[in-house]
This record gives sequence, C-alpha cells and structure tokens, in this order.
Amino acid sequence: MLIFDSGVGGLTVFREVAAARPDARYIYIADDAGFPYGNQPEDKLIARIVNVIGDAIAEHRPDLVVIACNTASVIALAELRKCYTVPFVGTVPAIKPACAQSQSKRIAVLGTQATVSREYTRALIREFAASCDVVLVGSPRLATIAELELSGLPVADADIAAEIAPCFVETDNRRTDTVVLACTHYPLLTARFRALAPWPVAWIDPAPAIARRVNDLLHEWKTAALEAPPLIVFTSGRSPPAPLAAALRGLGFS
Ligand code: DGL
Repeated sequence: MLIFDSGVGGLTVFREVAAARPDARYIYIADDAGFPYGNQPEDKLIARIVNVIGDAIAEHRPDLVVIACNTASVIALAELRKCYTVPFVGTVPAIKPACAQSQSKRIAVLGTQATVSREYTRALIREFAASCDVVLVGSPRLATIAELELSGLPVADADIAAEIAPCFVETDNRRTDTVVLACTHYPLLTARFRALAPWPVAWIDPAPAIARRVNDLLHEWKTAALEAPPLIVFTSGRSPPAPLAAALRGLGFS
C-alpha cells in the first residue's frame, strides 16, 4: 500500500492505518521536494501530484493508495482517479462528524490555505454543516511548524497561538467547541494546540476514520502476512535529521 503526503503529516494517518492493518506492506512517499503544497497554484500542484504518484505506482505496484493529505485530496483526487486504475482513499476535512458532535453548533475548519479555499471544502459545508456556523481558517504556516517540531526544532508558543486564534469565535453566547484538523500535519501538534487554546475544544483528527475505510477495503482482499518493514521515500532524497529518524524508527520504519 502506498501512503502519500507532501511531508511527514501523513505519518499521522500511517500510524492509524498500520495499527489497524499490520499485515500490509507500506511504502510512504513524502514529496518533501514539493513541500509545502498549501500555498501553491492549483494547476502546478495537480501536475506534480499526478506525476509523483504515477512514478510511485509504476515502481511499487500497490493494491491501494492512501492520499494522506487534505490539500492533495481536495485538489487532485478526481484527476488521480481518472489517470490510474488502482483504488485511492483520500483525506478530506471531517466536517460531517464535527458538525454532528458539536453542542454549540459553532465549529472551525483549520487547514492549509489551499484546502479551505477549495470548492470541495465549501461543498462539504453546504452538504453536512447546514445546522452549524463554520469558520474556515487557512493557515499559511502550521504545516511547516509541524515539520520543524518533528525535526526537533520546536516553534515558539506565540507563533502557534497566532495561527489557531481565528478558530476561536464567541458570539451570541456560543463558542467554537469543535475544530476540524483539515491538514494531516496538524495532529502532530495537538498537544501544543490543547495547551495554547483559549478554551477547551474537541480537535477532530480524520486518521481513525481513514484507517476504518482502508480496513473495510482490505477485507475484500486476501493479504498474506508480510514481514517486510515499512519503507519511507523522501522525493528530495534527503536523510532525515536525527530526531525525525528516531520518530520514524519508533513507527517501525527501517
Ligand atoms: N499535509 C498536508 C495536508 O493535509 C499539507 C501540508 C502542505 O504541504 O502544505 O493538507
């Protein structure tokens, strides 16, 4: 199975999927040579994602590809399905469950600028969040901050607090009580978000739902128990810095 992201954010999806299906063989592709996706023009991104994934499919012949990146999913999933026959599981903002569980009916969707500005995301809000007030927050920096954090270069509290501040809305005695983490990098920062939030909220990570979807799909196929450890490929060809290498070993990468 291929798991794809622009960087290390998709590891938040990988860890759930691999826990649900330890019998599958995983190749994780981090397109760090193209990172960050969230601030780039759409046509350039679609071409890049289709190429990088096409090369990975040709090389690794996966049975399934998980696009563990909201930005790539909302921008390129339709094109990927047109170009390749292998099944894809995408990651899209978890607006429906967030709206269903919100008590105050005021939620925030925190993603990259590309994800929150896409029609795909707006359509999810129209379809599933009619009963909620939704604030869309496009963060220019949080994905990079998450990359730095995992590489052992933690960013100052004030910088993170400034990025999440627009999620917290209070009017008519109703406060935001649920924040959709609409970028797979953000669950890497959940502990910091919790510590810096002006009031407690539920932070919705889509990874468990993706793992359930993958598990359902794999049930239809026979998978032989495989001994091979997961493999990670950085499109830049770089070697990860020591703290990231240690985190990768902790996740079972060789
Ligand atoms: N992890 C990605 C996402 O889920 C995007 C980060 C980026 O490349 O900007 O949207």
